[in-house]
Amino acid sequence: MTGHEIRRRFLDYFKEKEHRIVKSSSLIPSSDPTLLFTNAGMVQFKDVFLGNEKRDYKRAVSSQKCVRAGGKHNDLEVVGRTARHHTFFEMLGNFSFGDYFKEGAIEYGWEFMTGIVKMPEEKLWITVYKDDDEAFRIWNEKIGIPADKIVRLGEKDNFWSMGDTGPCGPCSEIHIDQGEGIGCGSPECNVECDCDRFMELWNLVFMQYNRDSKGILTPLPNPSIDTGMGLERLSAVVQKVKSNYESDLLKPIITYS
Ligand code: SER
Repeated sequence: MTGHEIRRRFLDYFKEKEHRIVKSSSLIPSSDPTLLFTNAGMVQFKDVFLGNEKRDYKRAVSSQKCVRAGGKHNDLEVVGRTARHHTFFEMLGNFSFGDYFKEGAIEYGWEFMTGIVKMPEEKLWITVYKDDDEAFRIWNEKIGIPADKIVRLGEKDNFWSMGDTGPCGPCSEIHIDQGEGIGCGSPECNVECDCDRFMELWNLVFMQYNRDSKGILTPLPNPSIDTGMGLERLSAVVQKVKSNYESDLLKPIITYS
């Protein structure tokens, strides 16, 4: 599957599940002074999550152009050190605004990963926020992931915020074990390691709070879903190449002469 096909399959999969396909918004956020660049698919929906804006749909899907070169989500320092960061990328994401919540997001995520892009189940690992027993139970009991492949992690890895303020919540990530030949090579390497072996593919955020400038968390009017998966990362794995730069989305730019 080419990168363009993967993007199409993602949008079509969620369209079939009654999501509105929404175009990528500008890389310069139109009305958000807290961000220099759009850094996630949820940016154009921030006010919908906060309850300040109503749309005529409760489910959306997009492939959002993002830049992470500063601020809270800054990939600049790791470009060239990993095979998976490049500051500008496309984020595939599905969103629920007070509609489905954890169970729906996890079920869709798993079905897309294993049924549509055919990721090998045995290589997938799951992380959940340390005290999120509900997400743990859904993965374990409904999806059937063995308990020893669901790892509970803290705030740094499994609590997502767009910036110092704004919508946020605990999250659950789908990682793929790319095998011993990739990454740091340490016998201790595991899903918490920053190398490329256990690579995060998809982040499912359970949007539940608004964080204000004093750091106080207020519950959102409706629990919501915000997911994000790097198109170039997913393409590299599907195409069985070792680096995003070798995927068909980036390689033609590098070899252009
Ligand atoms: N907002 C989350 C992220 O950027 C999920 O889309 O990872």
